[in-house]
Amino acid sequence: MFLNNFLYTLLPVVIVKTACLTLGRQITRNNMKYLGSKNRIAKEILPLMLKHRNNKTWVEPFVGGCNIINKVKGDRIGADSNEYLISLLKELQKGWKPIKDVTKDLFNDVRKNPDKYEKHIVAYIEILFTFGATWGRGFVGNVNDKVCKGRDRIGEGYRNALKTQKEIKGIKFIHSNYQDLEIPENSLIYCDPPYENTTGYKDDFNHLDFWQWCRNKAKEGHKVFISEYNAPGDFKCIWEKELKTPISKNSKVNKINSEKLFMYE
Ligand SMILES: C[S@@+](CC[C@H](N)C(=O)[O-])C[C@H]1O[C@@H](n2cnc3c(N)ncnc32)[C@H](O)[C@@H]1O
Repeated sequence: MFLNNFLYTLLPVVIVKTACLTLGRQITRNNMKYLGSKNRIAKEILPLMLKHRNNKTWVEPFVGGCNIINKVKGDRIGADSNEYLISLLKELQKGWKPIKDVTKDLFNDVRKNPDKYEKHIVAYIEILFTFGATWGRGFVGNVNDKVCKGRDRIGEGYRNALKTQKEIKGIKFIHSNYQDLEIPENSLIYCDPPYENTTGYKDDFNHLDFWQWCRNKAKEGHKVFISEYNAPGDFKCIWEKELKTPISKNSKVNKINSEKLFMYE
């Protein structure tokens, strides 16, 4: 009787709790404001990838605001083609103290004369103090803007950088195009590239080349996962969720997109 109860009721609970604890230990919290951030879906997609991790190095060729990699532990490589962003992440790791009270004058000067400033400062201003964390957009501290009324967005940007600083210890950051990135053998690669038919990043992105690169990496023995709305038919969708996103840069109207996680085997 006791054995039956244990097998059918307690044992499944023990197994699920142990699995959650094991995966949970690999997950920590926090986020940096970033265009295309995966922070809000991290909890759902991470366990699906972490179960394939074993001791593999976690590699993100499109690391952006580190909103996935900061929740993973162990050996990690975060790369991005934006050298200003990588410079900011490296400086934060070295203990750089973010500028606390970013003023509109400083923002405008950095925008007009980026060459006058070190790369990490340009990234700090253009990512953490622009609307939607979008390079080239307006200053979040513009008091005439209704969107920011009553919100301490300057303080948020600063505190965001401080939180990120704590969360990115131990990650190896590399400035690289994804195609040139050297990846250790038998890694787990999570790709969060610029999505097809969306805008916001500086460089053009060839999606056909990208999908082929993923196939090649999987054939080399890596586990390859990709966040996108759509993928070619030979990629398997392993997770999907409908999410609201603004219809355009300045719009308050939302559209529903089906966020997906793909795997190539
Ligand atoms: C959607 S964002 C990543 C967001 C990140 N996963 C997060 O949650 O914060 C995509 C990133 O890809 C980078 N990127 C664009 N083209 C690239 C390329 N050819 N090689 C490497 N990175 C690239 C962009 O600079 C951007 O940081």
